Amino acid sequence: MSRRQVLAAAGGTGLLAAATGPASPARAGTVRSRRSRPSGDGTPEQIHLTWGNDPGSEVVVSWVSPGAAARPRVRIGQRVITAEARPYTDGISGETVRTYHAHVGGLRPGATYAYTVTADNDANAAEPFSATFRTAPHGRAPFRFTSFGDLATPNTEWVLSYGQSTYAVEAVESFQPLFHLLNGDLCYGNLNATAQPRVWRDFGRNNQTSAANRPWMPCPGNHEIEFCNGPQGLLSYLTRYTLPGNGVPGFGGRWYTFRIGTVLFVSLDADDVVYQDAAAFVVGPGELTPAASTGNTPLKPGTSFYIRGYSDGAQTAWLDRTLAAGRRDATVDWIIVQMHQCAASSSATGNGSDLGIRAEWLPLFDRYEVDLVLSGHDHGYERSFPVRGTDAGMGHEVTGGAAVDTRRPRPVTTTDSGVFDTTAGTVHLILGCGGTNTNLDDYGLDTGDGQRQAKVFTRSDRPGLTATPDVYARASADAIEDAIWSARRDTSTGYGIAVFDVDPGSADGDPAITVTHYHAVGADPVNPETGAKGAPTPDYTEFETFKLIRPRR
Ligand SMILES: [Fe+2]
Repeated sequence: MSRRQVLAAAGGTGLLAAATGPASPARAGTVRSRRSRPSGDGTPEQIHLTWGNDPGSEVVVSWVSPGAAARPRVRIGQRVITAEARPYTDGISGETVRTYHAHVGGLRPGATYAYTVTADNDANAAEPFSATFRTAPHGRAPFRFTSFGDLATPNTEWVLSYGQSTYAVEAVESFQPLFHLLNGDLCYGNLNATAQPRVWRDFGRNNQTSAANRPWMPCPGNHEIEFCNGPQGLLSYLTRYTLPGNGVPGFGGRWYTFRIGTVLFVSLDADDVVYQDAAAFVVGPGELTPAASTGNTPLKPGTSFYIRGYSDGAQTAWLDRTLAAGRRDATVDWIIVQMHQCAASSSATGNGSDLGIRAEWLPLFDRYEVDLVLSGHDHGYERSFPVRGTDAGMGHEVTGGAAVDTRRPRPVTTTDSGVFDTTAGTVHLILGCGGTNTNLDDYGLDTGDGQRQAKVFTRSDRPGLTATPDVYARASADAIEDAIWSARRDTSTGYGIAVFDVDPGSADGDPAITVTHYHAVGADPVNPETGAKGAPTPDYTEFETFKLIRPRR
């Protein structure tokens, strides 16, 4: 469908089609060639969608413009929605970023809408950016969503960026999901500290290819935490995204929940509970010197931004209330959690698992029968068996081998049958397989007993001075355990996308979620198992498929 046809079909309401079946194709909006334009203009870019509080009737359109936009707005049919301007000034570069957010409410569930984004000083005002999106269905309806984290940008000028991030975004589009869950470490701005807004711009331009057509719902990772950008360093993240409210004063946008059909989605900020210190960090030997215009003082080598405990329990209390309400609601079948860091990862070269999550949140996941937990952080794919409860005293210190309680998740089965009843246990997926240049698909093995082995952070790894003067480093995880909970690990590539098809179940059939993981074999810069050198690839092929079932109550 051409843009003109889209607009013609939109008519007076913007409604293109109301449907209850699988998502109809909705291609990317017109991609325009870059033309030279005066600085300070209001041309929209980095356009992306998020769900409002009710995904059946509310969507937020967000974007950035190079300069201040005059009358920034979204048009849907005859409706014109004025955008809220929410600028911020990056605390290191001093660059001001102008973001805009239009709350579009009053939509029909399960319907497709066309929209345009423009401003009076939009260089493309004669033919403004246009795209389509689909609202969430109501009731017991089937739908598809996708997930990965750790995306980075296609601009290899930036630390951790890699060409696979373009193909990863295209992969989302190829599956035409209702929405995408982006589980943290979006662009690694904080690893490119003096250029953060430029890194975010490359990220935003890349993911617009999909995120302008369907909501991308993010959670913060350790690389969203930036020096001099707010109390948790999340100013860039929070200013660029408008996310459902959580009702907790002072902590908007950090964690949230939304409901689609029979699924309650819960998005968390695990930075609040993990022991690992992995956010913004001045390695040294030089200081990190913010631009003079910011008024911020230089940061000395060894400085790291550690925010464990920042909500003082508010997030965990909210999680308890949210999960309890979800499980009390007879119309909710599934509870799916996304967060960035991992409760159950056995990556050998990556970060591993974190006792902070296990201690704070796994008991709640058990009590309220959370079905599925999606994480990023380690750049590969790993699936756990369903787990419930933990075994004490199963870990050992990396140094010295003394016993340590890692609260190891206890699998309810170790038979990889391909069908798992999640009323018995929670399945964890590691999906940090987006598009960075650092594949971490190398997994731990206890050579003593042949068991899979996981590293676990049981305490913080605050920076320590190295042998090089003024250069600091943070240690890797301090404990190890036999990872008896690990069911499947992809050793062929660190890149992939998980596709989830929710079947609400018929009157006499139980609800089910079919999960298929597709992977990009050959994309590893170097495969750790074979040593093969690879390059970004658009080819995503099936790695595995399995089914989650939940016998109806
Ligand atoms: Fe991470």
